[in-house]
Amino acid sequence: SNDVVPQAPEDPLFGLMAAYRRDTDPNKVDLGIGAYRDDTAKPWVLPVVRKADEIIRNDPNLNHEYLPIAGLADFTSASQKLVLGADSPAIKEKRVTSLQTISGTGALHLGALFLSKFYRTNSKRVVYFSDPTWANHFQVFSNVNLSYLTYPYFSKKTRGLDFDGFINALQNAAEGSIIVLHACAHNPTGVDPTQEQWKGIAKVMKEKKLFPFIDTAYQGFASGDLDQDGWAIRYFVEQGFELVIAQSYAKNFGLYGERAGCFHFVTAPSSDAEATKTRVASQLAILQRSEISNPPIYGARVASTVLNNPELFAEWKENLCTMSGRIIDMRKALRSKLEELGTPGTWNHITDQIGMFSFTGLSEKQVMYLRDEFHVYMTKNGRISMAGLNTKNVEYFAKAVDKAVRE
Ligand code: LMR
Repeated sequence: SNDVVPQAPEDPLFGLMAAYRRDTDPNKVDLGIGAYRDDTAKPWVLPVVRKADEIIRNDPNLNHEYLPIAGLADFTSASQKLVLGADSPAIKEKRVTSLQTISGTGALHLGALFLSKFYRTNSKRVVYFSDPTWANHFQVFSNVNLSYLTYPYFSKKTRGLDFDGFINALQNAAEGSIIVLHACAHNPTGVDPTQEQWKGIAKVMKEKKLFPFIDTAYQGFASGDLDQDGWAIRYFVEQGFELVIAQSYAKNFGLYGERAGCFHFVTAPSSDAEATKTRVASQLAILQRSEISNPPIYGARVASTVLNNPELFAEWKENLCTMSGRIIDMRKALRSKLEELGTPGTWNHITDQIGMFSFTGLSEKQVMYLRDEFHVYMTKNGRISMAGLNTKNVEYFAKAVDKAVRE
């Protein structure tokens, strides 16, 4: 019958992107999807990626054979070091197993699938997401039949972290609950815990035996400093947690369409940690084989070429600073333009927040007004992709926001 498959709604973010493309207004502004743009509103191929590309293409031994099931070994081992730190005890003690994945989403899926099959299968399991979180988290986890709740994260009042609400929710979560954490540059709010707050979060999670599932999609992109952006993950590992990490290279390498990412399983320190790791790795390999057989090669080759070459690695860090620096400049510009205009409200949160996004506090009505009257495209929750702003449109946007707020 024709009603077996009900019509699903269009993905809000990709729908927004399509609406922006259809708009013919010359002043239109795209603040929707989180993808870096340069000051001329164009996608930016990182210069270091161009170099890596050149090296790969000129390699006379280049072929297009299958990768192993776990992916390109040079890539996964460099990814471990990047995320955990080169001298991580977890790596030295052989407690980490890593598989190359279809970017961060694939890593989230592989992790969720693994947990749904092997984690506390005899008890009630709940996944907790921050409120709000990246919209795709909900469907990635519910697709593998894990049920979820949310923990308070964003305070509408301060437009910062609701730390007390967050801690309280952790304290009341059932033992063994899976807590999804954003390592840095929280999407959609741009609000990250301070190091002191991370320590408090880890402490409660340890006491309550909660399981960290860490999503890291912005390492180096947030502050421009790979170690600073990786700090929270390394702290959790130091505290001896068993945990998993979903790592994306879309944003920090500008490899959006190449789908380069990595899933890491870190076993807790113990005398049989390495044996546990080996068993976990064997099951992950079966899951990966049944789902994608083996991962795609190109993006991993590019990232691996850069991560394993000290000269290119240094250049990558400069490219990261170019991106994070321009975004920070746009935060300052937007805030000062709004303050100059005397736009009602406070705007310090624009510069307090970090990473790709700012959670402006604009209401859905104001968002729709901006779209209809000014051809400005942003998600209904008031999130803007800071990378969509540049020296040519930031004033136009500030004036449009000013109008929307005064409406
Ligand atoms: C975003 O939130 O805009 C990005 O992470 C892109 C995506 O796939 O949703």
